[in-house]
Amino acid sequence: METVVSGIRSTGKLHLGNYYGAIQNFVKMQHEYNCYFFIADLHSLTTHPTPSDLHGNVKQVLVEYLAAGIDPEKATIYVQSDVPETAELYLYLNMNAYLGELERSTSFKDKVRTQPDNVNAGLLTYPVLMAADILLHRATKVPVGKDQEQHLEMARTFGNRFNRLYNHEYFPEPYAFNFSDNLVKIPGLDGKGKMGKSEGESNVVNLSDTPEVIRKKVLKAVTDSGPTAENQEKPVEIQNLFDLMKVVSSVDTYEHFDNLYNTCQIRYGDLKKQLAEDMIIATAPIREKIKEIEQDSSYLRQVARHGAIKARESASKTIREIREIIGFKNF
Ligand code: TYM
Repeated sequence: METVVSGIRSTGKLHLGNYYGAIQNFVKMQHEYNCYFFIADLHSLTTHPTPSDLHGNVKQVLVEYLAAGIDPEKATIYVQSDVPETAELYLYLNMNAYLGELERSTSFKDKVRTQPDNVNAGLLTYPVLMAADILLHRATKVPVGKDQEQHLEMARTFGNRFNRLYNHEYFPEPYAFNFSDNLVKIPGLDGKGKMGKSEGESNVVNLSDTPEVIRKKVLKAVTDSGPTAENQEKPVEIQNLFDLMKVVSSVDTYEHFDNLYNTCQIRYGDLKKQLAEDMIIATAPIREKIKEIEQDSSYLRQVARHGAIKARESASKTIREIREIIGFKNF
């Protein structure tokens, strides 16, 4: 059976981008593959969270994984820092990851631009840590959103380079995966790019947001003054709202508003109201479960412990084999 690995950074609440880009696939894949889904708390250290924020954020993601339908009896759910083998593989892979290629990564260049005061080495080698997460379980499929595609290419490069260096076909090639033909990019509410935490809280709709908060955020989404000619191309901020509607609303609803746009009869207030209600309906079951699961500390503890044990079994086997390939020997 093929192995699947994916993770989400522990930076707080999960949003619709995480859900439709990644988690929805996790939930389906757990029935068909040998799955490892983890909470990337080591990756989150690049932004220096306080110790108490760190733990709260890890708990939040764990709760939301479970609330979204990941079943710890089917998939292995674990906290990245509970598996120290990750850090060991990261160290080995760093030995043949080169400065030039790391500096060219889009996510690194973005961070240099957005957080110029904190361009640390962890940011530079972020794709190496990600490759370690994936290669640690020798995964071939990685369910992620469109924004992670380049990182997957780098993971293949690092794995292949290791294989060549030691002349051993050890790591298989991991590929980004989505059940539909294309990787997903969920737009944000700010009228610009993707939905993402770093773009600000008003850009994201969280799985745990209350209906009131969702309505407020969606009503504030950026729009223009409306179409002036029939069948006019939609400007990006309007296209984004339609893209969101495609994900959470019915085909009929989408077509209804698309027709109104194309005939210049659209009222954005109506579109936003409908979009907000459909987001509320889409997230309601998860929102309810979040409230239930977050109270259950002993269940969360049990899931995390069980996951760490299972993940370490797979990880320690890889590390044992790699150490031998590299040439570490006991006296
Ligand atoms: P992160 O935490 O930023 O996002 C987690 C997952 O959600 C997806 N995603 C989106 N998909 C579509 N549209 C969006 N607007 C959107 N926003 C987020 C991401 O593509 C991702 O799948 N580096 C990773 C975490 C990670 C990882 C890994 C993933 C660490 N190690 C190993 C896979 C395998 C990250 O920061 O994702």
